Amino acid sequence: MENKKVYIETLGCQMNKSDAERMYGMLEHIGYSQTENPKEADMLIINTCSIRQLSEDKAYSQIGVWGKWKQTRPDLKIVFAGCVAQQGGVNVIKRAPYVDIVLGTQRLYELPDLVKRIENGERVVSVDEKPFEENDIQINRVKGINAWVPIMEGCNNFCTYCIVPYTRGRERSRKPELIIAEVKKALSEGFKEITLLGQNVDSYGKDLPQGQNLSWLLRQINALEGKFRIRFVTNYPTDITDELIDTVLELGKVCEYFHIPMQSGDDYVLKKMNRRYDYTTYKKICDHLRSRVKDVTITSDFIAGFPGETEEQFKNTLKAMSELELDYSNTAAYSPRERTVAAKWTDLFIPEDVKTERLARLNEHNRACCLKSNKKYLGREMEVLIENFEVRKNGDKVITGRTRNNKIVHIPCDRDLTGEFVNVKITNARTWYLNGELI
Ligand code: SAH
Ligand code: SF4
Ligand code: F3S
Repeated sequence: MENKKVYIETLGCQMNKSDAERMYGMLEHIGYSQTENPKEADMLIINTCSIRQLSEDKAYSQIGVWGKWKQTRPDLKIVFAGCVAQQGGVNVIKRAPYVDIVLGTQRLYELPDLVKRIENGERVVSVDEKPFEENDIQINRVKGINAWVPIMEGCNNFCTYCIVPYTRGRERSRKPELIIAEVKKALSEGFKEITLLGQNVDSYGKDLPQGQNLSWLLRQINALEGKFRIRFVTNYPTDITDELIDTVLELGKVCEYFHIPMQSGDDYVLKKMNRRYDYTTYKKICDHLRSRVKDVTITSDFIAGFPGETEEQFKNTLKAMSELELDYSNTAAYSPRERTVAAKWTDLFIPEDVKTERLARLNEHNRACCLKSNKKYLGREMEVLIENFEVRKNGDKVITGRTRNNKIVHIPCDRDLTGEFVNVKITNARTWYLNGELI
């Protein structure tokens, strides 16, 4: 087989990163090995994200650069994949005529066939919304401790700001036997943590035979042999059931960590966002989780400057962050996305400088919440799964890992204990991490 090289630049979320591991695996099968250096690649793939305008712009500016390379290296193949591709379709080629394949998210598994076609001189756009049948493929995972395993894809919620339902299509569950085979393989390769991935993991199984839901799947995975951890992201707030909480409590490998994006702390804004809860409902969910699951970490996402958001309404978000004692939040300024409902409310758009200023306040609040959350663990003994060993410039040797509830801990240690579970006493709390000592 010829030995060609492929480089993938991934711009998006964890789902996109997981797609990249699949693309590398599929391409290796047809003779392309992975390279970290785009300059030596025969094929360049941009794996795009369209959650905000900035990420979409990044994709086009990157392939602009690659397009220039192609002028002197006409054999270079350029693939435009991911969420912007799914949405853009043939328009991508109009805008960037040097692109050989436009590969929609729904057509991922078609990649090897399409590569054969472009090797014969064709150019192809494949963004059909009917997902291409997935088969048992090789996955070249990024080396490390945690393996990401998608369990469902797509979203049916149509929040008014969000592009994901258009780029990832309707909710679909992956077959449990494929998921379990993937988990077993990852464990046999030495991964110690499995994170189940989906836009709304609670929707897992809605399209499968009765009884096969997220809790059921967690049970199947928890029953696999060996010491490892299980996580799952993302949950839609109102979909967290008592069955799921019971399952987390019962299963030893499943960690005490919930990522439940709230988006805004204001009832009117939440309604305009088409989120199906108000502040009180979300608070009840948080309180319930905290009362049942000891040391649970609850993280969230928030958007600053949604169309029409008043200063008062924004302040409700800040208030919510502190009142709910959220452990960490991802934050973003609202970015209008084509096709979404809120993007049409141009007369309600918040000026850029106001959005930027609100985002800065949101971030400052987030930092305070994180520090407060980390301080809860001062003096406590916790189990840490080590992910990394480094010798710092000053000669200090440090291992870094995560607690079950997803707190990062730095620990002085002479030996590389990557992949091991160690018990640690927490000695110091910083904004983004904890310090600890081996016990
Ligand atoms: N399924 C998850 C979120 C997936 S998108 C959920 O329902 O919460 C990840 C995050 O991107 C969202 O939580 C939201 O905070 C942010 N986001 C989505 N669309 C956005 C937009 N148009 N502008 C700014 N942030 C956005
Ligand atoms: Fe986007 Fe809402 Fe779906 Fe999350 S639930 S992916 S924010 S539409
Ligand atoms: Fe992810 Fe971005 Fe697509 S956040 S699902 S890569 S739009």
